[in-house]
Amino acid sequence: MILKQLPLDIKKIFDAYDKDLIKVEENLKTLFESNIYLIPLIGKYLIESGGKRMRPLFLLVSARLANYNGEAHIPLASVIESIHTASLLHDDIVDGADLRRGRPTAHSLWGNQVVILVGDFLYSNALKKTVANGGIQIVEAVANAVNAMTEGELLQLAKSGDVSITEEEYLKIISAKTGVLISAACRVGGLLGGLAPREVEAMARFGYKAGITFQMADDLLDYMADSGGFGKELGKDLEEGKITLPLIYLLRDARNGEREEIQEIVEKGPSEEGLGRVLDLFTKHDVLRKAFDRARALSEEAKAELAAFPDSQEKQELLALADYALQRGH
Ligand code: FPP
Ligand code: MG
Repeated sequence: MILKQLPLDIKKIFDAYDKDLIKVEENLKTLFESNIYLIPLIGKYLIESGGKRMRPLFLLVSARLANYNGEAHIPLASVIESIHTASLLHDDIVDGADLRRGRPTAHSLWGNQVVILVGDFLYSNALKKTVANGGIQIVEAVANAVNAMTEGELLQLAKSGDVSITEEEYLKIISAKTGVLISAACRVGGLLGGLAPREVEAMARFGYKAGITFQMADDLLDYMADSGGFGKELGKDLEEGKITLPLIYLLRDARNGEREEIQEIVEKGPSEEGLGRVLDLFTKHDVLRKAFDRARALSEEAKAELAAFPDSQEKQELLALADYALQRGH
């Protein structure tokens, strides 16, 4: 399996930030504090469901690279994770997804009405916490990210089932959906440490490109047979009408009526047979490799954004995170 061949050094990085990550986890719980019992109840379920805490890690490493030695990085890392969590609550409703991280999605247990509102509570609480812990530039970075994420999700919806979607449009969607939040995490780290504006921008561009890589890899993983290990179902994107990079490349490279055939599969909606045919055509046209090469090029672009920073432990960690983005999705 192509995604499995990469060196995996990520555990060491998580270990190096262990103390801070434990504090982030504690802080995350405070975002669900409310007398309205459904909020802490669903909060507990979500926190127990786990998640790799990738986005907080991007912030923690960036803050350490910027030589930050205060305490605001903890609540701000938890803000980034909770915005991600709120967005997934809403996204799972939009997508009608039954499973997240191998467990029933919150809306399939508590219903859409409750979960939409818990998402709103969580998101607004995250903004309150941002105001309490960051200056105006940090507040701006977080607000901009949520704003763009919503646009990305809407653009994705507008392009649902549209086989004429271009690679450029796809990139726009995933940049907004995933790139901007990881970019904000890196920007906040840089801002906390008081880096020069030029350096902050480089950190933000790094996070943006690493984030896009991350989403592209997630979209590839969706078509890989062992994706069940990630708690997701094979071919979920196709089922949801999402035309992601593998399908865009397949539509581009298809020959002799195959394009029409794929179009029909997308239009008809989910079927095991349709998915099987798409997977066969992926193999025939070597599509997953081509999409993986594109993701790898992006992770290289991400790493190049850090060229101006002197070598350090933290820089190496960020470089490794950009490689790791290639291997795993949400
Ligand atoms: C997952 O994509 C979704 C996102 C990365 C972003 C969703 C953004 C919003 C719902 C708007 C922001 C809203 C708030 C309240 C902050 P996916 O469906 O491709 O991934 P999946 O397979 O993990 O579901
Ligand atoms: Mg989804």
